[in-house]
Amino acid sequence: MSELVLATRNAGKVREIREILSEYPEVGVVGLDAVGLAESPEEDALEAFATFQENALAKARYFAARTGRLTLADDSGICVDALDGAPGVHSRRFARRGDLRGPEQDAANNELLVELLRGREGAERAAHYVCAAALAWPDGREEIFVGTCDGVLLASPRGEGGFGYDPLFFLPDEGMTFGELPPARKNVVSHRGKAVRQAARKLENEG
Ligand code: IMP
Repeated sequence: MSELVLATRNAGKVREIREILSEYPEVGVVGLDAVGLAESPEEDALEAFATFQENALAKARYFAARTGRLTLADDSGICVDALDGAPGVHSRRFARRGDLRGPEQDAANNELLVELLRGREGAERAAHYVCAAALAWPDGREEIFVGTCDGVLLASPRGEGGFGYDPLFFLPDEGMTFGELPPARKNVVSHRGKAVRQAARKLENEG
């Protein structure tokens, strides 16, 4: 049995990662609150890199050092080719509304994305999510796993599920946005499901 510290303050990510890992009885999960780590301002400075992989590793290393325990961190975002890959690693702060958090911050980001894609059609609305899931062990070992998910950005939101950009992210094969898709189905096809399952299989194989 491996027990990992889930190193994220994002409620949507926590919900999804816990659900995905529940498929792996050999992998236990403990949250940052449960290990007594209250949020600290220095955490914000961790995501300073240009790639999801580097940011995920920085977060996993930081929390593994602070807890002395096996840690899983997620860095993720949405990339739009027609916007040169933006929002990309800046997905959370895309609208530069540092005064907002959670659903209010998500709504501001979505409004900006809708605005930037106004009048664009077809391939110009293509987007993909990326999730980098990093494992850091207290002995210094590290592993990184990446999952992606392709979709199309709608001109207006649909559905109340998921978080972040999900109500805009339409999956042609599913005929729904991530905001409309049942959560269990999102976890099967999502960038996070793909990355976190690779990490879980690695831990299972370690026994
Ligand atoms: P991070 O906390 O720096 O990794 O930023 C993640 C941001 O990317 C979130 O705040 C969302 O804006 C966006 N994001 C990542 N994954 C998802 C997802 O599964 N659904 C919707 N938005 C996501």
